[in-house]
Amino acid sequence: MATKGKEWMKTRSDVFDFFTARNLFKLSSDGHFNDPDSISPVKIGKESNVFLAKKGDDKVILKIYRLETCDFNRMYDYIRFDPRYYNLKRNRRHVILTWVQKEFRNLHLARDAGVRVPTPYVYLNNILVMEFIGDELPARQLKDLYPKNPEAFAKKLIYEVKKLYKAGLIHGDLSSFNILNFNEEPVLIDFSQTTTLENTNAKDYLKRDIQNVVAFFKKCDLFLNEEKLWKEITGKKSGRAYL
Ligand SMILES: Nc1ncnc2c1ncn2[C@@H]1O[C@H](COP(=O)(O)OP(=O)(O)O)[C@@H](O)[C@H]1O
Ligand SMILES: [Mg+2]
Repeated sequence: MATKGKEWMKTRSDVFDFFTARNLFKLSSDGHFNDPDSISPVKIGKESNVFLAKKGDDKVILKIYRLETCDFNRMYDYIRFDPRYYNLKRNRRHVILTWVQKEFRNLHLARDAGVRVPTPYVYLNNILVMEFIGDELPARQLKDLYPKNPEAFAKKLIYEVKKLYKAGLIHGDLSSFNILNFNEEPVLIDFSQTTTLENTNAKDYLKRDIQNVVAFFKKCDLFLNEEKLWKEITGKKSGRAYL
């Protein structure tokens, strides 16, 4: 690696481990964002950190998984039921890197199905680069910015979940934490736990997703019916049966 890269990594070793710094440097050298120094934190999580980076005059989001603190056993217990990953070995590094690839892949599938999600641009090892959702500031999570018109928002959200289901996917961690309220439009994020309908636990995941949605809208005084919502999403019934 060029001396410039080594120098940069040395100065940032307080923030990023060597592996991450090297991946960041490679991604920026390949033009996926301007300069590793343009990175600023958006959210520091338990397993991943989300950063903002500049790309030209635009912004992109970097989701960086921390190899040391990821609960890879939890990840493995999720991923091993996904038919796409039946053969995955219980190896810490391998599971975590596959988890990142899985999130990238899920975002792509959702995007192709017309679901409003951040467009995934590229991933490299533990780093996922995707579209920034927001204006000047990142869009806020639904839990922090309640919709002005809960009924209209719920309708749009259900439409997104239906499209996802039609594409054969269950979000698996759908809640007001992983839905952004971007100018009163729902944008779904955090697709690492998303799985296919063939997953033996798919029904349980969808049930939980629906329960979370119902619980959130209850706080907005909108009372959705779980069973009707299930039918609406799975295509067993059409129309406005969920309200
Ligand atoms: N594409 C994005 N645009 C704007 N903000 C985002 C984007 N992706 C993530 N965020 C912000 O970062 C937070 C954490 O991202 P998320 O994918 O949910 O990771 P975690 O696994 O830590 O929950 C989100 O709640 C949101 O506030
Ligand atoms: Mg999340």
